[in-house]
Amino acid sequence: MEALNKKTIEDIEVQGKKVLVRCDFNVPLKDGEITNDKRIVAALPTIKYLIENGAKVILCSHLGRPKGEYKPEFSLAPVAKKLSEYLGKEVKLAEDPEVVGENAKKIASELENGDVMLLENVRYRAEETKNVETFSKELASLAEIFVNDAFGTAHRAHCSTTGVADYLPAVCGYLIQKEIKFMGGALANPKRPLVAILGGAKVSDKIGVISNLIDKCDTIIIGGGMAYTFMKFLGHSIGDSLLEADWVEKAGEMMADAKAKGVNFLIPVDNKVGKEYDENTEAKIVNSDEIPDGWMGLDIGPKSMELFVDAIKGAGTVIWNGPMGVSEWENFAAGTIAVANAVAESGAVSIIGGGDSVAAVTKLGFADKMSHISTGGGASLEFLEGKELPGIAALMDKD
Ligand code: 3PG
Repeated sequence: MEALNKKTIEDIEVQGKKVLVRCDFNVPLKDGEITNDKRIVAALPTIKYLIENGAKVILCSHLGRPKGEYKPEFSLAPVAKKLSEYLGKEVKLAEDPEVVGENAKKIASELENGDVMLLENVRYRAEETKNVETFSKELASLAEIFVNDAFGTAHRAHCSTTGVADYLPAVCGYLIQKEIKFMGGALANPKRPLVAILGGAKVSDKIGVISNLIDKCDTIIIGGGMAYTFMKFLGHSIGDSLLEADWVEKAGEMMADAKAKGVNFLIPVDNKVGKEYDENTEAKIVNSDEIPDGWMGLDIGPKSMELFVDAIKGAGTVIWNGPMGVSEWENFAAGTIAVANAVAESGAVSIIGGGDSVAAVTKLGFADKMSHISTGGGASLEFLEGKELPGIAALMDKD
């Protein structure tokens, strides 16, 4: 519920002021074209508010990881073009390899109220990811107010997410407010039962999330590659399925903790296994204690789907992070589809966080049926782990 205690763009006078806005325009590109512009669309409400309220808007973001060097393939030029289309007005890109250079300063000084410009990729500067004061000061020198709306990068303490907040009045934008309203609300004050569905390849990536959610959820559903580490703890033969041997004991501890706390902790009871890690591999359904050697689990089986769907049906709130199987392969997408369908039909407040589950839900056509799809990958995971996000912590508290 962090951001609710933070000042927002509506708590500060922006008319005629130069406002530096940190967005997360880290979008996927192919041959210089943006292949998914959801993060750009998600940033529009804040930008439009600032335009309508007469601010001089200076946008900034990172794109990829150019590692502190100017590399043209990481330029934000495609984003400037897309923003210009969405806003129906030119968004000038300040083409400075050093980000805050002569172009940026000149364009910023010539901005009229309601104009919008975009700085180049902040990660062209080596100082950015190290949160070095000099670059934070340079960024701050362009503006009078700082707005952070980069939820997807709020878990990074960088110059453009936290450092700059030391030098300017700093508030949050609408996207951060919305993300925290849904995700913070689901954790702090959920409509019950609260069901968390956790999938994906590695249990080690989700330990923090599972531990935090055990204290909050009524039911936890585990699917995806990480489920086999839990099965291993139960003494099941898992064949060639994904296993994180170092985490077997921890998986057992989490199951015991869940049991002690009265949390319904569900793992797959059957699986669709394949001979090889291949889309068209020979496949069959087997119970979780019967995965033969030479076979690997690539999706949950029909009995698991039924079990999980039943648990989801009665949910008041669902938090979902990670697919149930190799959902990008048609032959192994059934588990993720069944879960997506159940979440969509449950009538629960549904929150989808994390890159892979968002991609799966979007590709499978369920995106419109969810209450909230987070723009954060790592950031939403850290939020679900209960960690403080530095990009939000740095903002001014409400009076
Ligand atoms: C993301 O895509 O998760 C964010 O934009 C953060 O990117 P990063 O992992 O390179 O910091």
